[in-house]
Amino acid sequence: MSFAIAIDGPAGAGKSTIARRVAEKLSFIYVDTGAMYRAMALFLHRSGISAEDPAAIARKCTEADITIRYQDQEQVVLLNGENVNPYLRTEEVSGMASRSSAVPEVRAHLLALQRSLAARYNVVMDGRDIGTVILPDAQVKIFLTASPEIRAERRFKELTEKGEKAVYEDVLQEIIERDQRDMNRAVSPLVQAADAVLVDSSHKTPEEVEAEICRLAEERMKEDAK
Ligand code: DC
Repeated sequence: MSFAIAIDGPAGAGKSTIARRVAEKLSFIYVDTGAMYRAMALFLHRSGISAEDPAAIARKCTEADITIRYQDQEQVVLLNGENVNPYLRTEEVSGMASRSSAVPEVRAHLLALQRSLAARYNVVMDGRDIGTVILPDAQVKIFLTASPEIRAERRFKELTEKGEKAVYEDVLQEIIERDQRDMNRAVSPLVQAADAVLVDSSHKTPEEVEAEICRLAEERMKEDAK
């Protein structure tokens, strides 16, 4: 049976950095489910669908064939055969992803792919509903969070380092709004699973968080081996 580590939490808590490190350390596959939602958002955006039109999103989303391939341990997201990794991190795609991911048809479309990856590989999977909906039997569940201000600072730094123009207050506002949407949507809202371990990364280094999660995973593996 495969082993799964589910890491959920709000945008900017450091999920992908941590998940990638833990996966590398344990030789697991890293599955970034946010990237799948982003690929769907890119598809909808390119198709001229409005983020404010859930009925159109529900109709159109089934035309997106989203698959994943691994190249040098990295996840490559294929949208109808095209590698769309370079287009997934724009603010436009983030905004659309946050809205379209609230549409049940979009979630249903991606659920099967996420589960099938976890069935085939040992995974570290990050997202919003991995421990609650996608992999309720994951051996380790983490709810990774950090204060909105710290998350906005990290995001601001990331954007400016990439040479993009950004205003800290706008980034903070966007994060607060995204949290609201992710936590208050009807389908698969962002909530901590009852059996998830809460980790606040506000004042921790990535090394510390990685070590904490690896320790939990190793403890569980030892128990399972008994
Ligand atoms: O983690 P991220 O910022 O790349 O996620 C992009 C959007 O997709 C975000 O608004 C939340 C949504 N998402 C989701 O609803 N469920 C997931 N498992 C992963 C992401």
